[in-house]
Amino acid sequence: MTTKDTIHQYFKQQQALYGNELYLSNEPDPLPGPESVKEGAETHGALDEFHQSICQCLECPLGACRTNFVFGVGDPNAELLLVGEAPGEQEDLRGEPFVGRAGKMLDDILKAIHKKRGDGVYIANVLKCRPPNNRDPLPSEVEKCEPYLLEQIRQIQPKLIVALGRVAGKTLLKMDVPLKEMRDKTHDYNGTPLRVTYHPAALLRNSNFKKPTWVDFQWIRDYLQNA
Ligand code: URA
Repeated sequence: MTTKDTIHQYFKQQQALYGNELYLSNEPDPLPGPESVKEGAETHGALDEFHQSICQCLECPLGACRTNFVFGVGDPNAELLLVGEAPGEQEDLRGEPFVGRAGKMLDDILKAIHKKRGDGVYIANVLKCRPPNNRDPLPSEVEKCEPYLLEQIRQIQPKLIVALGRVAGKTLLKMDVPLKEMRDKTHDYNGTPLRVTYHPAALLRNSNFKKPTWVDFQWIRDYLQNA
């Protein structure tokens, strides 16, 4: 059941109990909410709420042609945030980032550093909707969508952001340089350290990229262990 269905069911029950009057209380909830589980950390609740508040977005033309809004997936308290450029066809159909062949490659890389999506890792894209024919994001689309990523980062508070591929790297860092020039450096993305590595799809196209990617992920593993 989706969050929307749950909310719908809740209001149906409220209507059955109380008719068409909506009762709202100003009193704080007497029971500790999930927020109390880890002090200062956001939970799925807040991130889900944010998701629900933006998933009907039509701020740019991509909203009109999407199948699904691809918000992101993973651990709301993740120490590692992986950011791709935009959903592809499979992601648009499933509503989840990195679910195609590149996603399987990404899961394998994460496994190699003893991590997995959902456990200490969050995966998102700069754009939440698929550009036609998987073309690169346009600056006007990034301008509308990047604030959503910024809010996700504010809520998740990752220790490290890793941009997957040149397009994600150049879009976030606002520098149009080859990937090689962005790699192997720790950048600052609005106060959070950011590294850039190869896109998993590039590894599927050219296995020469596997070795430097493995070097990058070993660095990421060690950084997180010491952070
Ligand atoms: N490529 C991306 O950059 N993001 C996805 O979600 C899938 C493929």
